[in-house]
Amino acid sequence: MRFFDEKLPLPRLVYNAVGAGYPVPRNLSYFWNFGVLAGFFLVLQIVTGVVLAMHYAANAQVAFATTEHNMRDVNWGWMMRYMHANGASFFFIVVYLHIFRGFFYSSYKAPREMIWLLGVVIFLLMMATAFMGYVLPWGQMSFWGAKVITGLFSAIPLVGEPIQVWLLGGFAPDNAALNRFFSLHFLLPFVIAAVVILHIWALHIPGSSNPTGVEVKSESDTVPFHPYYTAKDGFGLGVFLIIYCVFVFFLPNMLGHPDNYIEANPLSTPAHIVPEWYFLPFYAILRAFTSDVWAVMFVNWITFGIVDAKFFGVLAMFGAILVMALAPWLDTSKVRSGAYRPMFKWWFWLLAIDFMVLMWVGAMPTDGIYPYISLIGATYWFVYFLVILPLLGLIEKPQPMPATIEEDFNHHYDIKSAE
Ligand code: HEM
Repeated sequence: MRFFDEKLPLPRLVYNAVGAGYPVPRNLSYFWNFGVLAGFFLVLQIVTGVVLAMHYAANAQVAFATTEHNMRDVNWGWMMRYMHANGASFFFIVVYLHIFRGFFYSSYKAPREMIWLLGVVIFLLMMATAFMGYVLPWGQMSFWGAKVITGLFSAIPLVGEPIQVWLLGGFAPDNAALNRFFSLHFLLPFVIAAVVILHIWALHIPGSSNPTGVEVKSESDTVPFHPYYTAKDGFGLGVFLIIYCVFVFFLPNMLGHPDNYIEANPLSTPAHIVPEWYFLPFYAILRAFTSDVWAVMFVNWITFGIVDAKFFGVLAMFGAILVMALAPWLDTSKVRSGAYRPMFKWWFWLLAIDFMVLMWVGAMPTDGIYPYISLIGATYWFVYFLVILPLLGLIEKPQPMPATIEEDFNHHYDIKSAE
């Protein structure tokens, strides 16, 4: 190993990154597992995706048939496909948990703003990758989803429609779109992997935060990553993989849409075009701002009709991610961990419920009570970041906090009284 390290110091890199050479706060909870889990699913998606690509043809005439051929005739092809399709869902589950961990413990706060911003870039890239991947089997939802989502660009005044045609390489999704989506769907995961390296590099500068939010003050606050967190992350990964295997082997189509087993037909629009579950909260925000909402009417009026309801919806959807990116600057509280913030906790949990409600309502039709629920849900998302986070820091009285990480750890395990 020493011979190798002298010529090419890769062993040192691993030792310092995830080995005994990387000191980590000793009080991390299981909520700190999700970063490693996300990394695992990224690798799994790349490995299964490369194998799937060996049996796939990006041609609108045969794409659907090659997918079915892979499921029926290729050895273990069905398993690769189910691992990949469910892997995408599980990747989003762990990344959403990772993001909400960040919200609760304000992991985004200084000095970790860059880790957060790179995380938002990863999240956007993941959404683009998942969207393009879903088009590839060329089922009904692939086709109509591609039409609706690229149609969002047509909402941009003046240049919108030419942009949509340019993105698709035609007036509707067809061979040109399918080919470029396949090409980009293959490429983007490697771009994500590169941004993940930057994300972890940025993390290694301040080091991990922890459930108390108190920074590391001395060596006794930390333990080496290996074996402590390799073991803890390994356990979390094992539990998660059991749940994942239940889906892959027993419920492989539960998270998908049955219409995607019907070949794409440009002449038959499905009754409901529904995106994959992980897009639904943002899809609900997109649809929430209809032309009868006063804010939309007002913006339409002051912009001389340039911003109509459709464009407003698109701006709201991207705005929902932008406000998330600005959290490090919108949150004015001096206390990092939500555990010591009595008022913040309630608003945080309301945000988590809001996210679930948006996810549910995003799959509902656009009549009856549903538009009102979407509007309330979408408004709360913005109010949380733009009003509640800045205000709470000014009015809230935090609870007493431990002076050091070691003190928190000893208190948790009752170490003094055990002695
Ligand atoms: C491919 C997706 C991602 C991977 C592989 C990844 C990986 C990781 C890893 C390994 C860690 C250290 C362990 C941990 O704290 O859980 C971490 C920390 C962190 N990640 Fe991610 N991440 C991803 C996406 C994101 C996203 C989407 C965000 C936010 C928008 C984000 C924000 C953060 C923050 C703020 C930390 C520091 C946490 C702390 O020290 O308290 N990450 N990430």
